[in-house]
Amino acid sequence: MKQPEKRLDIISKIPDREYSDIWDTCCDHGKLGYKLIREFPNAMIHFNDIVPHIVEKLNTKLYNVPSERYTLNTLDARNIKVTNDNTLIYICGIGGKMAIEIVDDLVSGNSHNFELILCTHYHQYELRESLRDLNFKLIKSELIVHQGQQYETIYISKDRGYEIPKYSEELFDKSCKLKTSYFQKSMCHYKKNAKYSRISNEIYSYYRELLS
Ligand SMILES: C[S@@+](CC[C@H](N)C(=O)[O-])C[C@H]1O[C@@H](n2cnc3c(N)ncnc32)[C@H](O)[C@@H]1O
Repeated sequence: MKQPEKRLDIISKIPDREYSDIWDTCCDHGKLGYKLIREFPNAMIHFNDIVPHIVEKLNTKLYNVPSERYTLNTLDARNIKVTNDNTLIYICGIGGKMAIEIVDDLVSGNSHNFELILCTHYHQYELRESLRDLNFKLIKSELIVHQGQQYETIYISKDRGYEIPKYSEELFDKSCKLKTSYFQKSMCHYKKNAKYSRISNEIYSYYRELLS
């Protein structure tokens, strides 16, 4: 498990290949995109947020970056148009449910393939189920703790990788206290509803077995 303050550093270094276009969607402060400008000198970095004044502020923040290195985009991430197959889209710092909606719309609204890095909290089971239904595969994943919040970070593609594990079990490591505690917390969460929901019971039973 990595240090909390390193979340954006970690996720900016996850890609294992070059891209021509990289989107920092839901970018807010733009710190991730700024790191990507340095990490990927040959890529065009696209900043995106739905809130106009957030994007306007970025204009000032990026004063020392050549304008041909980036674009600023005020729009709902659901409506992004991907222009080539050599594109990576980051969706970070939001909840799993919102990520499901954004990815669904990105897939249905684009004919070009793209790879994704999602760094989200909550609703991981539902997110993974939805990504599996869309035929995404897992390239790699990380569990990151930032300001007390746990984020599962997944790097996915339709063209490479392996079947996305349903229960995030590839992140489990019995020798790591923080990881064990993450899975224990998830188990307790699902236990509460196990009597009333078949899925919650299934996930609870899986985690109980994993942690035993
Ligand atoms: C908590 S910030 C995440 C900042 C950054 N990505 C990170 O990981 O630190 C969430 C941002 O998502 C933006 N946002 C929410 N829904 C969005 C959408 N559908 N399209 C684009 N931006 C969105 C919000 O305006 C906000 O700035």
